[in-house]
Amino acid sequence: MCGIVGAVSTRNIVPLLVQGLQRLEYRGYDSCGVAVHAAEAAGAVPGTRLKRLRGIARVADLGAQAESQGLAGSTGIAHTRWATHGAPAIGNAHPHFSRGPVPAGMDGEQAAARPARVTLVHNGIIENHEALRAELLARGYFFTSQTDTEVIVHLIDSLYDGDLLAAVQAAVKRLRGSYSIAVLHRDEPQRLVGAREGSPLVLGIGADGKENFLASDAMALAGVTDQIVYLEEGDTVDVQLGKHWVVARDGQAVQRPVRTVQAMSGAAELGPYRHYMQKEIFEQPRAIADTLEGVEAVVPELFEAARNHAPGEGAHATFRATDQVLILACGTSYYAGCVAKYWLEAIAQLPCAVEIASEYRYRESVPNPRTLVVTITQSGETADTLAALRHAQSLGMQHTLTVCNVATSAMVRECKLAYVTRAGIEIGVASTKAFTTQLAGLFLLTLALAQARGLLTEAQEAEHLKAMRQLPNALQAVLALEPQVITWAEQFAAKENALFLGRGLHYPVAQEGALKLKEITYIHAEAYAAGELKHGPLALVTSAMPVVTVAPNDALLEKLKSNMQEVRARGGVLYVLADADTHIDSGDGLHVIRLPGHYGALSAIVHVVPLQLLAYHTAVARGTDVDKPRNLAKSVTVE
Ligand code: G6P
Repeated sequence: MCGIVGAVSTRNIVPLLVQGLQRLEYRGYDSCGVAVHAAEAAGAVPGTRLKRLRGIARVADLGAQAESQGLAGSTGIAHTRWATHGAPAIGNAHPHFSRGPVPAGMDGEQAAARPARVTLVHNGIIENHEALRAELLARGYFFTSQTDTEVIVHLIDSLYDGDLLAAVQAAVKRLRGSYSIAVLHRDEPQRLVGAREGSPLVLGIGADGKENFLASDAMALAGVTDQIVYLEEGDTVDVQLGKHWVVARDGQAVQRPVRTVQAMSGAAELGPYRHYMQKEIFEQPRAIADTLEGVEAVVPELFEAARNHAPGEGAHATFRATDQVLILACGTSYYAGCVAKYWLEAIAQLPCAVEIASEYRYRESVPNPRTLVVTITQSGETADTLAALRHAQSLGMQHTLTVCNVATSAMVRECKLAYVTRAGIEIGVASTKAFTTQLAGLFLLTLALAQARGLLTEAQEAEHLKAMRQLPNALQAVLALEPQVITWAEQFAAKENALFLGRGLHYPVAQEGALKLKEITYIHAEAYAAGELKHGPLALVTSAMPVVTVAPNDALLEKLKSNMQEVRARGGVLYVLADADTHIDSGDGLHVIRLPGHYGALSAIVHVVPLQLLAYHTAVARGTDVDKPRNLAKSVTVE
């Protein structure tokens, strides 16, 4: 959600900032901008000045404009925005400027024509922005945007006394909410200051020993540097040519470890695919194989966290002490949790509650210290999921585990145990391979819990693992059904509504299918547990209503067939995803795609793939922006 890149260098860093923004664009794409210490025009007073360029088109357009206008400078900041406060408009785009308080008698036009003194980019939300705005207005500051961000830049300006680091440190003490920021001051041309609280920020150390960078995600710096320092909550960082230092919340200088982060630039390239979502759908066999790599037996140690814990805090002891599971997640990850509930209760015989993180964090609930709290998150940075975890911890639930795709994320750092999926970077806003790898991780977790509780014989474990190892091939075979799905998509492209039905663990699969369709095609799609059809949604069914039904050959198939009859009797058109051995055939108003196998408990992982393809091809047919659907963002790091 929003992206930040900043650099201090000796070369022109505008192309590099734009390239970094392009890598972060999937996180927010309402507007973008760049600001640099630009050299004065020939003949002007020597020195430097802050110059910026902002736009509401895509980053590529910003790059072209920067080039055509000759914007250049060796110290700069850049931002791509997902709007929270204020519409996606140029005036609200970052970087923001402070030109200092307006002297008495100066009109608005003159005030806005003054050179900028401070410029800043910000990710997050400032909760006390109204109070700060009132205070700064009273002190003569002139606001040009509706953003919460603008208060920070004026606040820093008001506190500046020749030392940008000191001004930022003083300013962040006044902020409530979440932020990562990068700031420049007119009078300090080779200095970039950053700070973070509740929103990620990393420092990148340049290979030449001089250049240094800031970014909200190391990926922005792929190909530029692989030497990364992950800043911690409350840190401020002073970035200069050839040097940098980090100051912790208490004002003391601290050494944060420098990590070598694998270059991910290749992973962010599209290759032969038309969209990242398509690429990521087709990467699923590999992503699942990588996620399962090395799983020879389901041992609780698979769930050890990346950091060291005191003896006795290991997964085995935790799993044996667990008598309940609480899953916390948002979006697609929440649906993965809903599938896992079926597995956990059936196989590990543990009561399981699945909660939407933004609901759980604010409701009164009954804590049980023997609960295993499981967060599911692709990014590991989702604000609501992190807050829900902290809420559970504050209620005394200390057994925490995350199924997460980013090993360096806040979530992995904050949970005691982690299973890091290996989906690889996911760029498409609509999650696909992250979901199926989460499911693989959750199935392993189920088996590990069952094993720790003495519920799994060796033969059962071997059978489950055999089925898991067959998943990559099963997914490959399902991907080969793409041409059949495309014929469905052509029909869906003309629709404005769709229903999705499923039963048992395929109900959350239907929900995920409906979410995919609405996210990227803007077709209104609802999912129902098929048994609920007659309690309301049947009223919507006419010949104009396509009804997608996930119908594997499981114990509920006969019940589901009755639900399908209810739809057909009202003229609804059925699109059925069946297993190889499901006895349903295409007919009038009944379209069947038969998956090549029968997948048992793992069926949810396989059956979601044609639903992803359906959403994808319907979006392509409707001409929407598949990878960057309107109003959405990839990592929701604000509440
Ligand atoms: C956003 C994304 C979704 C994702 C959700 C949760 O809404 O667009 O694809 O499922 O956030 O994100 P997480 O990173 O916590 O899985």
